[in-house]
Amino acid sequence: MPVSMVGRADHLAELVRAWSQLGSTPLPVVITGAAGMGKSLLVAAALDAFTPRPDLVLSGAARLHTPAPYDWLAAVLSRRTLDLPLPPDALAWLAQLPDAPRERFAPDALLRLAVRAVRTMVGAGPAVLVVEDLHALDPASLNLIGELAVASEPPALLIVTSRPPETPVVARTLARLSGVPGAIRQHLGPLSPTDVASVLSEVYPSTSPAVAQAVHERTGGNPYWLTELLVAAGDEKSLVDEPLPEHLRLAGAGPAPDLTAREVEVLTCLAAGMSNKQVARSLGISIRTVTVHVSNLLRKTRSASRTEAALWAVHNLTSR
Ligand SMILES: Nc1ncnc2c1ncn2[C@@H]1O[C@H](COP(=O)(O)OP(=O)(O)OP(=O)(O)O)[C@@H](O)[C@H]1O
Ligand SMILES: [Mg+2]
Repeated sequence: MPVSMVGRADHLAELVRAWSQLGSTPLPVVITGAAGMGKSLLVAAALDAFTPRPDLVLSGAARLHTPAPYDWLAAVLSRRTLDLPLPPDALAWLAQLPDAPRERFAPDALLRLAVRAVRTMVGAGPAVLVVEDLHALDPASLNLIGELAVASEPPALLIVTSRPPETPVVARTLARLSGVPGAIRQHLGPLSPTDVASVLSEVYPSTSPAVAQAVHERTGGNPYWLTELLVAAGDEKSLVDEPLPEHLRLAGAGPAPDLTAREVEVLTCLAAGMSNKQVARSLGISIRTVTVHVSNLLRKTRSASRTEAALWAVHNLTSR
């Protein structure tokens, strides 16, 4: 049920201004917030609102929970023809082509080539570079993003979204980006009761303030949970009156998830400190499938990290 974006007008305006005033150097924009707070929606809204329209948007996200080196760049390259002036072997490696030679490059050389690849794609610019979910990126990508942020060219808005950092290397990268002079730093918190009311009124025009208040409490102001509740409730009365569906049961600040049997198994493995590879092996499923389960688990348990999900498991799984 698509509803319009609420409560982020100031954030959006700041991004639009940054693009219209972009100078000749890269300008980092760091947007943090817990899972489902609306980071991706804000970036999409900003890209829509930018004037003049960006000629070039290079966008990538971590594609796996244990991504290969330079996963952000590989994601970007996967949507383009590989006609960059780089040594073909290195380009194949950076693009993660299946026939690429294995690790024959010195890390420093690769980093320089990765930076050059981005610069070549941007050309004279200006461009928008979007790094979604930096918290889940591999260290080489973090290095690359950090280098791009402090470089003297090209002219580009470097928009980064991240859940709150869980590892020192992610925290350091966010700090490095935020420390660039003029960098924009935004943190998305929960929606206010008024914002929640305005979302509700799009679907149910006559919603009372009391209902909006109750829904705000039930969802903790998290827009993802709000949209989930709207879908699950189906009608206005059910927003507060009817027992919530299993996966939206109240728990602490917000709804607790209903996990599938397989998700419980995966979560139990995470709580035991297993890597995705170990989980895959012990459950007899592919690593790719594990990453999908982990991704759903983070969202359902409203965890910012595997560690948090594991903690959630310790507190909640035993009583199930
Ligand atoms: N400000 C908002 N107003 C209305 N709906 C919103 C708002 N922000 C987010 N949503 C909705 O909430 C859901 C989650 O938003 P989004 O995917 O942007 O969150 P996110 O912060 O990127 O989460 P993740 O950390 O999982 O990537 C989407 O369905 C989105 O449309
Ligand atoms: Mg997102």
